[in-house]
Amino acid sequence: MKHQILRRLGLAAITAIATAGTFAHAQDYPNKAVTIVVPFAAGGPTDTVARLVAQSMTTNLKQQIIVENVGGAGGTLGAGRVARAGGDGYTLLLHHIGMSTAPALYRKLAFDPINDFEPVGLVADVPMTMIAKQALPPKDMKELLPYLKANKEKVLYAHAGVGSASHLCGLLFMSTIQTDLTTVPYGGTGPAMTAMLGGEVDLMCDQTTNTTGQIKGGKVKAYAVTTKAHVPSLKELPTMAESGLPGFEVAVWHGLYAPKGTPKPVLDKLTAALQTALKDPNVVARLAELGTEPVPQNRATPDALRTHLKAEIDKWSPVIKKAGVYAD
Ligand code: MLT
Repeated sequence: MKHQILRRLGLAAITAIATAGTFAHAQDYPNKAVTIVVPFAAGGPTDTVARLVAQSMTTNLKQQIIVENVGGAGGTLGAGRVARAGGDGYTLLLHHIGMSTAPALYRKLAFDPINDFEPVGLVADVPMTMIAKQALPPKDMKELLPYLKANKEKVLYAHAGVGSASHLCGLLFMSTIQTDLTTVPYGGTGPAMTAMLGGEVDLMCDQTTNTTGQIKGGKVKAYAVTTKAHVPSLKELPTMAESGLPGFEVAVWHGLYAPKGTPKPVLDKLTAALQTALKDPNVVARLAELGTEPVPQNRATPDALRTHLKAEIDKWSPVIKKAGVYAD
């Protein structure tokens, strides 16, 4: 009996010390720079969103937020890196719809998007645009579809790896128009855009956060936006539905994650800093210039991201399995 009481006291003490440790850690968090891993190359759309949010969170958390690009395998390399990073709150992940397609596409995936991460909150839903190199002859979607059918052997479609947003949009587009094109993967649509500007690749579906500048600069041709509504910053562009592809809708949702085991008080600080960043007038203005907007505050929460991620995994897995497209 005495032994049991001592054992319980011991356990209680250990728990108290651990909790006190966690509390002290959380109180002191962050006491050094925090890294946000972007699982795609620098200069691309996910990088653009991450750097904008990181800059504002640096002010809110009074600690530098560094963005590190770990591209490759459609975003799964960078996500895997964060899953193994340990729950101290100093290594985070900003990823997009690719988090929900990876489980079905990569049968040997090195992480579990739901059980290896703590959601911090949703960030933004970014429309996509179908674009082409300036030299590609078709001037609008009406000319593009027959052109692709007639030249499918030679048209090169660029994307950011299996499971990336540009890959998924391409898959959806090719199955919708029933024309398979040769695809060329890159470490992100940042380098894919460079290749397109160099005339190496012909066509790409990419996020407005990466294409708006090139479209407005006349550096690429733009055919349509992939959202139901027009994009205010690209209002001259028709929607896919208006261009003869009814029901074609893709928007790229983005979320911020921490590794599993990150203490709740630390997660609370991160969610609060994210919410503040998404209300930051500079962030709001810049995202508007790039064709998007922050999610509403009630979606910049762990619950909203957790629910959305699960729903997206349930949505995409049967589609991918039916298509039989696997990355490994
Ligand atoms: C990127 O940041 O390069 C993109 O998000 C890649 C993609 O998913 O298309």
